[in-house]
Amino acid sequence: MRKILVTSALPYANGPLHLGHIIEAVQTDIWVRLQKMLGHDCLYVCAEDAHGTPIMIRAQIEGVTPEALIARVAAEHARDYAGFLVEHDQFHSTHSPENRKHANAMYASLRDAGHITRRPVRQAYDESAGMFLPDRYVKGGCPRCGAADQYGDSCENCGATYSPSDLVNPVSTVSGSVPVWRESDHLFFRLGAFEEMLRDWLATDALQPGVRAKLAEWFDAGLKDWDISRDHPYFGFEIPGEPGKYFYVWFDAPIGYLASFTALCRRTGRSFEEYLRPDSRAELYHFIGKDISYFHTLFWPAVLAGAGMRKPTAVYVHGFLTVNGQKMSKSRGTFITARRYLDHLPAEPLRYYFAAKLGPDLDDIDLNLDDLVARVNSDIVGKLVNIASRCAGFVARAGGVLADRLPDPVLYEELAGARGRIAALFDARDYAAAIREVMLLADRANQYVDHHKPWALAKDPARAGEALAIATQGVNLFRVLMTWLAPVLPGIAQDAGRFLGVPLDRWDAIATPLLGVRINEFRPLATRLDRKQIEAMLAAEAPATPAPARPAAAKATAAPTQAATMHADIKDFTKLDLRVAKITGAAAVDGSDKLLRLDLDLGGEHRTVFSGIRAAYEPAQLTGRLVLMVANLAPRKMRFGVSEGMVLCASGDDDAQGLYLLSPDSGATPGMKVT
Ligand code: 2FM
Ligand code: ZN
Repeated sequence: MRKILVTSALPYANGPLHLGHIIEAVQTDIWVRLQKMLGHDCLYVCAEDAHGTPIMIRAQIEGVTPEALIARVAAEHARDYAGFLVEHDQFHSTHSPENRKHANAMYASLRDAGHITRRPVRQAYDESAGMFLPDRYVKGGCPRCGAADQYGDSCENCGATYSPSDLVNPVSTVSGSVPVWRESDHLFFRLGAFEEMLRDWLATDALQPGVRAKLAEWFDAGLKDWDISRDHPYFGFEIPGEPGKYFYVWFDAPIGYLASFTALCRRTGRSFEEYLRPDSRAELYHFIGKDISYFHTLFWPAVLAGAGMRKPTAVYVHGFLTVNGQKMSKSRGTFITARRYLDHLPAEPLRYYFAAKLGPDLDDIDLNLDDLVARVNSDIVGKLVNIASRCAGFVARAGGVLADRLPDPVLYEELAGARGRIAALFDARDYAAAIREVMLLADRANQYVDHHKPWALAKDPARAGEALAIATQGVNLFRVLMTWLAPVLPGIAQDAGRFLGVPLDRWDAIATPLLGVRINEFRPLATRLDRKQIEAMLAAEAPATPAPARPAAAKATAAPTQAATMHADIKDFTKLDLRVAKITGAAAVDGSDKLLRLDLDLGGEHRTVFSGIRAAYEPAQLTGRLVLMVANLAPRKMRFGVSEGMVLCASGDDDAQGLYLLSPDSGATPGMKVT
């Protein structure tokens, strides 16, 4: 039996999953489910990518510990993956004892073998925040074109790349202060020493042609040492023997694959060594997006080899997800978080759509929302489920038991015999071709039913046996097709298995048709999508800020999560007249999907405020509640009326985290001043 260990990229633990994460998880999950159905011992592990400056800063902004932040985000991620039926055999965290142990041990092996070197690095330092600043945390004028407010590594206006010290009037985005330049010693992994090993590895089937081409460019440019340390303060693991220095997040992130696998081994009694030793016969696959190939095709195999472990069998790289032909964008309303999607639409149609679009190469994948509706309605509802729903009634009328033989065994074999070919397409990650083939065969099955018209036969009681035979053929063809789609549509396949009275969990089970056995009552397996569901999803408010962007491969620091902090002094604060108010009435506002109209009692004085909390609260919940309001804002004329103040809410940087009205403790009364 093949032993296969599979991973997908670890999501950063400081923001919601979006559909870019989901397409990768679904691609991986389909592949893993296929291997399991083929009878292989296949395991899928993943984890939270929990370290690094962005997580540290996000936690500071939220006023929580990084541990609390990553625990909360991990729970949200787990819920969203489960919502998309992504089934990890282990989901762990890079901030775990297993990961610390592996990171320390691997670092020690690299250091002892002479693969680590030390040299000073001059870096921007924020004296008021007391920290070194990653390049993306310094902003200023572009040294080439002069555009203002550019990141410290590259200009979005002219494309120039540079270092933060080249910026005109640089400013720290952490505190808003002007950074100074300081030197400190950093530890580097000497990647160049692994060039030959990497070239040999590339000669295997480990990489797709598009990735090899990219690697050739990187080899030509020369393999540079990789800076794997960061200075205090940093949320991560302190490097043994190097007080105040931490492993850079990208050093211990892929090691997180091993940590997650270690947790799985402990839970299930498997042997870590068996999978990771250099001569292991087990297979190791990483599914990733193309933006992080440098880490996975150069650093990671080199670190593994340097630490005396096996290299990946293959790294499978996919392209980026676009929505309606363009990069996901907040302003276009197409930055779709996993949660926002699941709040409006079922998961399996999207799994199917992604599968129908995913090929084995690095091409970008476009989610066209009209096409999603059309394709799902035509393929899943119109073709696939239709076969079962058209046939089930005739079996039920015959007492629920299938006929003893197939009227057209040749047709059955035409379909069932394609199982090797279809498995090979899925295995080669050419899901699009596999789906095309399955749908062509679904057409054959529908043509069969159309041609034999069991409904016409059933009208004549003398021909009920023939109708049952046709329906038996149809139900069996449905079983074959549904088995092939089980990795893509696991929930529907499970329901179909209930209908058929046999689980659809083994690829080869379809070699034998189901005959002479009782099947169960047919219940609808999928419903048509309605364009209105898409519209409702798009109309739902997009997150206030995008989830932390993936850094460009070579830069490897996540984007800063907030703009420069503004300092307010006490005089600014006392300008605000903050008061306790009681909500005496609340109502939705016609023509706005964001606003509620609140009637407020300010201790005798009455105010009307329009507040953007409709997504978070039902008006009926609010009446009688005490809130805090800014009572001396200049009245604001809005389309719907005049707003006479503002109620205070807590919120995160994105709306997946919700909006929470602030209320005083009980005992406070309307009109009280907030001091
Ligand atoms: O780019 C990212 O989102 C990273 N968190 C992926 C890490 S994958 C692995 F190396 F851990
Ligand atoms: Zn520029």
